[in-house]
Amino acid sequence: MKVEIVTKRLEEAPADALVVGLHVGEAKLPERLARLDRAAQGQLKRVLDAEKFSGKAGHVTHAHADGRRIVVAGLGPRADTTAEIVRRAAAAGVRRARDLGAKTVAAELLGERLTARQRAQAVVEGAILGTYYFDRYKREKADKTVDELRLVEPDARRAREARDGMRRGESFALATSFARDLINAPANDLHPTDLARAATELGKESRLDVKVFERAECQKMGMGAFLGVAAGSEQPPKFIHVTYSPGRAAAGRRRKKVVLIGKGITFDSGGLDLKPPDGMLRMKYDMAGAAAVLGIMRALPVLKPAAEVHGLIAATENMPSGAALRPGDVLRAMNGTTIEIGNTDAEGRLTLADGLCYANTKIQADEIIDMATLTGACVIALGQLCSGLMTNNQPLANRFMKAAEAAGERLWQLPLIDEYRDNLKSEVADLNNVGPRGGGAITAGLFLKEFAGKTPWVHLDIAGPAFTEKDLPLAPKGATGFAVRTVLTYLGE
Ligand code: BES
Ligand code: MN
Ligand code: ZN
Repeated sequence: MKVEIVTKRLEEAPADALVVGLHVGEAKLPERLARLDRAAQGQLKRVLDAEKFSGKAGHVTHAHADGRRIVVAGLGPRADTTAEIVRRAAAAGVRRARDLGAKTVAAELLGERLTARQRAQAVVEGAILGTYYFDRYKREKADKTVDELRLVEPDARRAREARDGMRRGESFALATSFARDLINAPANDLHPTDLARAATELGKESRLDVKVFERAECQKMGMGAFLGVAAGSEQPPKFIHVTYSPGRAAAGRRRKKVVLIGKGITFDSGGLDLKPPDGMLRMKYDMAGAAAVLGIMRALPVLKPAAEVHGLIAATENMPSGAALRPGDVLRAMNGTTIEIGNTDAEGRLTLADGLCYANTKIQADEIIDMATLTGACVIALGQLCSGLMTNNQPLANRFMKAAEAAGERLWQLPLIDEYRDNLKSEVADLNNVGPRGGGAITAGLFLKEFAGKTPWVHLDIAGPAFTEKDLPLAPKGATGFAVRTVLTYLGE
């Protein structure tokens, strides 16, 4: 979808469909819509009255006038306007325009109470994410698509501001869609090798450095935890390191180094502790953290944040075989910590452990953010719409949660309760990779904390929101690309 700004009045904007917003309580049309209604010979007002359209957030209706569609999206009470309401209204409005066959859509900058920049960003995010589809494997391709979105802003000064927000919204949404495509790809078409290739291609397209370490090199670095998980798979593991370097820092100033780590299990069968069919069905999604990291990295050369950003992915399948990791085996992570395998299905934390060691010793990270579809327990605790956040550094977590709020992604902090650390004790090794059933998301967080060391670190357990079983306002069934927009917002501060 191409996006641009037009500095025209609403009724003059050229497009197959117009998307406009209406707040609750605007029974008498505001001036800009009244003008539009007059240009449409009163057709707009007639439809709104006939349908008793109340402007509730999430509601949409439309009218036809002179071969054009006018789509009205409800924005809820004016005083409660947020960027998320605007995203969802734009998504629903542009979807309706698309379903009515529109190829070009002109949209108002919805949400008068926000800045022009915020409004433009939110409308573009909503329009692109709300019309996302994945038809790669279908004979019948989506034929109704919107090719062009024109943001209408008659005022030249505000239009400049809006252009900035529009570009940002486009980067955020395309990064998210890129992650969704990778996650939605089935595991037989997205092996660790394919993730590595996707990373390498990013390096060719833009100013990113990409290094891919093969099994032998990982062995040399001592990544025994990661390679233990990889042992059962016919597919070669890949350790992927993508780097974004900003321009030169001001003299004497050192750039902050932020390391992003994404769980990259391209398929999680559980290993010898095999998952039951219901639990295994969705496990192509177990690389959603890795996909989010690649989506984020892809957007950075455009967004140009000040920090140096590293993306790490320890990519492998978790499979059962004669060569597979066994319950009771002991692995040695890159920092020398030995780990007894209580359950081969707790594989994510093993791969992340070596990622954390690498971030600390090879990169000397100032901050680490990991994102992982790590535990079913987190889904039990917080449900499908909310990610768990755990941290060893509250100020970092607070800044991060503010970014999530602005991005419209839900996070909830879980406590890393010290006493639970005892649950990870092993008779034979430094750590066991599992604890008791209760508080499983926290146990996993405590396991990772051992490897984060003193580096300020945030862990996101995205097992719930990484994919959706039903259509959401900003995502159809399938991968959501969760965490991409929050991390981009955080890095852009
Ligand atoms: N990838 C799963 C977690 C998961 C479960 C993600 C459901 C999305 C939906 C992870 O590797 C796993 O299997 N975790 C185990 C840990 C247990 C063995 C301690 C779990 O949650 O059951
Ligand atoms: Mn597992
Ligand atoms: Zn897993």
